[in-house]
Amino acid sequence: MDSNNPGPTEWAEGRHGVGPWALEHPGVQAPVDKRYDPELLAEGDRRNVVDAYRYWRREAIVEDIDTRRHPLHIAIENFENDANIGTVVRTANAFAVDTVHIVGRRRWNRRGAMVTDRYQRLAHHEDVAALLAWAQERGLQVVAIDNTPGSVPLETAELPRDCLLLFGQEGPGVSDAAQQAAVMTCSIAQYGSTRSINAGVAAGIAMHAWMRRHADFSRSW
Ligand SMILES: C[S@@+](CC[C@H](N)C(=O)[O-])C[C@H]1O[C@@H](n2cnc3c(N)ncnc32)[C@H](O)[C@@H]1O
Repeated sequence: MDSNNPGPTEWAEGRHGVGPWALEHPGVQAPVDKRYDPELLAEGDRRNVVDAYRYWRREAIVEDIDTRRHPLHIAIENFENDANIGTVVRTANAFAVDTVHIVGRRRWNRRGAMVTDRYQRLAHHEDVAALLAWAQERGLQVVAIDNTPGSVPLETAELPRDCLLLFGQEGPGVSDAAQQAAVMTCSIAQYGSTRSINAGVAAGIAMHAWMRRHADFSRSW
């Protein structure tokens, strides 16, 4: 990113958003660029967006993120209405993942997403078979993430670039059908007593493993 753009160290100041442009920038003409939203300029911008996107229209933000999207897709099974999907969507947004695929129930709890779903491409598939067919058509390799017998350590696995990471839900984990169709199942090393970690946390770890291997960190905020 351009070093003149706001970065992590400046984020604390903008945590609660910004007021109307005229109050924030007295005597400075408001931008007329079509990326800016006249209503936000007039009333202030309290959204959970990085400072570089303050006062921008939602469509303009999505278009800009699209220039940095990764060929990484995330899927999560939602047969029992998993409460972690919001967290997964928020992390996928942070990493500019291509699409988050919800498999099973269409409805999911948006609370953890903190409105990040407005800037993230989402797709729905009735079942795992439909998801797998979709992935195959697009040449995406499906990697299941679970700590089941036969899994290989995520820490040393070579994650493919054009990839769909598939997560299970609390309780059943990744379904057998999905694991059988996947090129591999990767587990995250654990050392304590719990059988598994939270699915949202596991998704963050696995997405970051892909980022470390394939992302261009010079383009991050
Ligand atoms: C809470 S786990 C439930 C299933 C788990 N296999 C069990 O025995 O309890 C829900 C999902 O989180 C992810 N997950 C949790 N812990 C993991 C680990 N150590 N390695 C890989 N994935 C994990 C997987 O996607 C899993 O399907």
